[in-house]
Formats: sequence, C-alpha cells, structure tokens
Amino acid sequence: MLIRVEIPIDAPGIDALLRRAFNGSGEADLVKDLREDGLLTLGLVATDDEGQVVGYVAFSPVAVEGEELQWVGLAPLAVEEAYRGQGLAKKLVYEGLDSLNEFGYAAVVALGEPDMYRRLGFVPAAQYGLRSTWPDTEASFLVHPLATDALNGVSGLVEYHEHFNREF
Ligand SMILES: CC(C)(COP(=O)(O)OP(=O)(O)OC[C@H]1O[C@@H](n2cnc3c(N)ncnc32)[C@H](O)[C@@H]1OP(=O)(O)O)[C@@H](O)C(=O)NCCC(=O)NCCS
Repeated sequence: MLIRVEIPIDAPGIDALLRRAFNGSGEADLVKDLREDGLLTLGLVATDDEGQVVGYVAFSPVAVEGEELQWVGLAPLAVEEAYRGQGLAKKLVYEGLDSLNEFGYAAVVALGEPDMYRRLGFVPAAQYGLRSTWPDTEASFLVHPLATDALNGVSGLVEYHEHFNREF
C-alpha cells in the first residue's frame, strides 16, 4: 500500500472510489469541482500493488468568521470496502495532518462520524465555540489544531466553500 499526493492520472480512480463509497455522485462531483477551481489544498491517495486507488482524503480551505486563518476542512474521506477496518483511513488522515502541519496550516475541521474522528485526534468543535453552517451538526463537527495556539481566541462560524452546499 502506498500513500501519496494525488496526481492528474488518479482522477478517474478517485472518482470511481468516491461514487462507490458514497453510493452516488455528490462527493465525486464535489472533488472534481474543488480540483477544477484550484481549491484542493491537499489530496492524498492510497494505492494497491497495481496502482489502483483504494483510499482517498481531501482537504480544502475553510473560513472562520469570514477570515482566512490557514484552516482547512477534511472531506471527503473514503476507503474501498475490501480494505476497510485495517487502519487505512487513519493512515491517510495522519499523513494529511503531518503534511498540512509542515506546510504551516493551523487547524483542520471535519464533519462526520464523531467517534471515528475522535479516534483520529479530533475534538468537538463546539468545545471551542466553533460551529458549521449546517443545522444540527453540533455533535458531528470536530476540529484538530495543528499549531499549538491555533484555537486561541478563535470561535464562531466555520464556512466551507460554496461547492459544499449541494445535495449529497
Ligand atoms: C469511514 C471509512 C473511511 C473508514 O475507513 P477505514 O480504513 O475502515 O478506517 P480505519 O480502519 O482507519 O479506522 C480508523 C479508526 O476509526 C474507527 N472507525 C472506522 N469507521 C468508523 C465508523 N463508521 N464509526 C466509528 N468509528 C469508526 C476505527 O475503529 C478506527 O479506530 P481505532 O484506530 O481506535 O481502532 C470507510 O468506512 C468508508 O470509506 N466509508 C464510506 C464513506 C464514508 O462514510 N466516509 C466518511 C465520511 S465522514
């Protein structure tokens, strides 16, 4: 298994994986739109021995109270069914957090299964007075600081790019 930054020839494999993992085209189309608009801060693939994409995670910019604070949102995250339960999502996320930290990003937010993101080192964003734009997401919106002072004095609304305002 190899984890690396996505390159242009990975696009069809990423698209197919996301369609399968999410049973629809929402996440696949989201990634296409983000990529086309230069909004993929980082995209990582996990590939098998044949070079097929079996895992993917993307990060894109988010604004906090309308400000660019070098924060990013993690989404989407997917692992091919046959490869689940082996720590691959964890490897992808950790690799992503490491790289973003090296690049100087301050914090990462995620919206999804809170138990899983807690296991990956995220904490409930509400704890810091941070909320997402979508209703009823208090329990499922989490944050992972990269810089030690990233959360100091920062609270309020965290906004993903408008590409995220679509039917999933
Ligand atoms: C969610 C998904 C990416 C997990 O991939 P995976 O490679 O099986 O996950 P990992 O094996 O790396 O698991 C990492 C940790 O999260 C936990 N975890 C994984 N899936 C979980 C879930 N659905 N709910 C709660 N915890 C979960 C694991 O137990 C593990 O914890 P541990 O390190 O303490 O043992 C995969 O199931 C998937 O692609 N699902 C469909 C798409 C999806 O729902 N994406 C997430 C959107 S929020």
